[in-house]
Amino acid sequence: MSEEGELTTIRCTIDGSPHEHRCHPLTSALDFLRYVAGLTATKEGCKEGECGACAITLDGVVVNSCVVPAAHLQGRRVGTVLGLSRPDELSALQKAFLECGGAQCGICTPGMLVTGARLLEEGERLTEARIREHMAGNLCRCTGYGKIVESLLRASEEER
Ligand code: FES
Ligand code: FES
Repeated sequence: MSEEGELTTIRCTIDGSPHEHRCHPLTSALDFLRYVAGLTATKEGCKEGECGACAITLDGVVVNSCVVPAAHLQGRRVGTVLGLSRPDELSALQKAFLECGGAQCGICTPGMLVTGARLLEEGERLTEARIREHMAGNLCRCTGYGKIVESLLRASEEER
């Protein structure tokens, strides 16, 4: 982190709650969430924009937070995996991941859930091909992807 004089104040909403924190403007959005705002649910994988583990939404659009400067969060609506569930109830997609074994080590899971939830929001009847296309930027080294696809298909059925 740089000297105080170089810090900037970032104001945004995260999962619907207002946040205001000071950080260096070139801090990544991922580090801003994890180490400045203290919200560690968003995970770090490659830190090079390649794996999707760090996926969040910015005004509803999925981005890899490790390659987005924190300054780009200014005044924006940030969505993380924490915003997908209610305090006492998991989302249909989170339940499906549990039931179908879509999560193993868990590093990719927050990004998978954020990216998958965005697809479900589109409201179309999902096919395996559509899911694989939409989720192509999210890498998993554990599950072989079949259980993740099954989780999305199940959640899609649940929500219809
Ligand atoms: S940690 Fe951001 S894309 Fe891999
Ligand atoms: S569950 Fe381990 S990387 Fe996906």
